[in-house]
Amino acid sequence: MVSYKELGLVNTREMFKKAVAGGYAIPAFNFNTMEQMQAIVQAAVETKSPVIMQVSKGARNYANATILRYMAQGAVEYAKELGCPNPQIVLHLDHGDTFELCKDCIDMGFSSVMIDGSSLPYEDNIALASKVVEYAHKYDVTVEAELGVLAGVEDEVSSAVSHYTKPEEVIDFSKRTGCDSLAISIGTSHGAYKFTPAQCTRDPKTGKLVPPPLAFDILHEIEKKLPGFPIVLHGSSSVPQDEVDTINKYGGKLPDAVGIPEEQLREASKSAVCKINIDSDSRLAMTAAIRKYLAENPSHFDPRQYLKPARENMKKMYIHKIVNVLGSNDKL
Ligand code: 13P
Repeated sequence: MVSYKELGLVNTREMFKKAVAGGYAIPAFNFNTMEQMQAIVQAAVETKSPVIMQVSKGARNYANATILRYMAQGAVEYAKELGCPNPQIVLHLDHGDTFELCKDCIDMGFSSVMIDGSSLPYEDNIALASKVVEYAHKYDVTVEAELGVLAGVEDEVSSAVSHYTKPEEVIDFSKRTGCDSLAISIGTSHGAYKFTPAQCTRDPKTGKLVPPPLAFDILHEIEKKLPGFPIVLHGSSSVPQDEVDTINKYGGKLPDAVGIPEEQLREASKSAVCKINIDSDSRLAMTAAIRKYLAENPSHFDPRQYLKPARENMKKMYIHKIVNVLGSNDKL
């Protein structure tokens, strides 16, 4: 058993309180590789932003759970080395689906876990989340639970249809589970194909898909029921068109990829939404830079040559999100 406190990490409690009061959101960036970790830390240090580094079950399978945990510890030391003496870094489990997985992460030094029982019947979701909360709080680890179902595919998490969160359930759910934050479904979705062309309209000038707006009415109703309670948005990549175009130009095939417009995320950040999850945009930024580099330099084969621009492109994206979308810069 290792406490996250020994690793220099923090939980989300104070961070969320300040974010809700200050009208901004904390970035929750997924990471699987060293380059993603470096880019996240560099961006957070340069912008003086708190940051949540999140690990999914898929990331643990890909990179190895122990390695990821030490990478998060390394992230804290790296931030100090970059000139940030007291970084606020959360190591969070994204989409934990069992008590055992959450417990394993807590025992390994995670400072925050998500228990995602959103696909279960309501009472089963409450029972599972309560069990995780009871264990996590013994170690001062914060817990995110979810009500409502997001559509889309991400690692092992997938659903064909979305079900908006029912505002009439949120008080009962948060009280009975004791969760520290609540992920809700208001129309965001996982992956680079958040909406089918049939769900969108097309911009007559560019021919690009325009997605349906988020259900801000549901968000506001939830805020009224749970004043000041930290709300989380998953599936919040914007799928930047320039990255999609670069990927397609250099041999990729991502027709009609579409995300959540950044203006809507900016608006959400000003509300009780205090954590915004972004994974796909990092994947797109990395892939676009690598495809471009390799197409332009066909004789190169040293991974450092193409991973360097990939890391720079991800860092640029993270900084953009922090400063221009979530507003968490200068909040350390
Ligand atoms: P995106 O696929 O929109 O990046 O969502 C990531 C996410 O919600 C991780 O839990």
